[in-house]
Amino acid sequence: MAARQPLIVGNWKMNGLQASLAEAKALAEKAAAQKPVAELGLCPPATLVAVMAATLKGSPVGVGGQDCHAKASGAHTGDISAEMLKDAGATYVIVGHSERRADHGESDEIVRAKGQAAHRAGLVAIVCVGETLAQRDAGETLKVVSGQVRASLPDDATAANTVVAYEPVWAIGTGRTPTVEQVAEVHAAIRQDLMARFDDGANFRILYGGSVKPDNAKQLMAVADVDGALVGGASLKVSDFWPIIEAKN
Ligand code: 13P
Repeated sequence: MAARQPLIVGNWKMNGLQASLAEAKALAEKAAAQKPVAELGLCPPATLVAVMAATLKGSPVGVGGQDCHAKASGAHTGDISAEMLKDAGATYVIVGHSERRADHGESDEIVRAKGQAAHRAGLVAIVCVGETLAQRDAGETLKVVSGQVRASLPDDATAANTVVAYEPVWAIGTGRTPTVEQVAEVHAAIRQDLMARFDDGANFRILYGGSVKPDNAKQLMAVADVDGALVGGASLKVSDFWPIIEAKN
């Protein structure tokens, strides 16, 4: 089996002010001292990307955006391009998060265009997929997730420029998580889809996201084909985030 370096990314969502940079700095200091196995990233709100990237420059913690527009520039008030994130010092960008799919009506087609934009700008795209509770209850999980993987990943995706994050919508911010069997089933299906389509499909990192906490991280991270985590609420404080990072050691 191919060796995949684990990746653990914090998604701060719409949380974080200048004062929160102290947490990012503390995380970078801890990571520099303790050298965890996992590659680490933080995706703060857009207002903090540049200042966080400057603060963490040269540290083991990369910075990412939470979304980007498909175009490089133009008349799109309020949007941010992948090139702008790159220019601000970002390494990653999350695309297709379920909150954007739901709140902003983003289709797989839009997500795929955003993924392409990330690659054009030289960013790693973290492409999110995941079923709703209604879809799980209807027995449609694998069909929905495979469909999203197929339609949301651009053809130029490689293991180096793309990460897939499986985030069941019903597990996000709810404190509910799938069983390890459910996580294993979906991650195995995503791996199959990636291997069927991409020459290096075995090397893509597949993250789990949705209520990852210090007390469940170890069992979730131990599941086959779980190559790390995309963490929301528990990434805001180093005291919560660090035990999750250590769970992949
Ligand atoms: P929580 O960890 O807060 O459930 O959020 C998960 C998530 O959506 C990360 O992108």
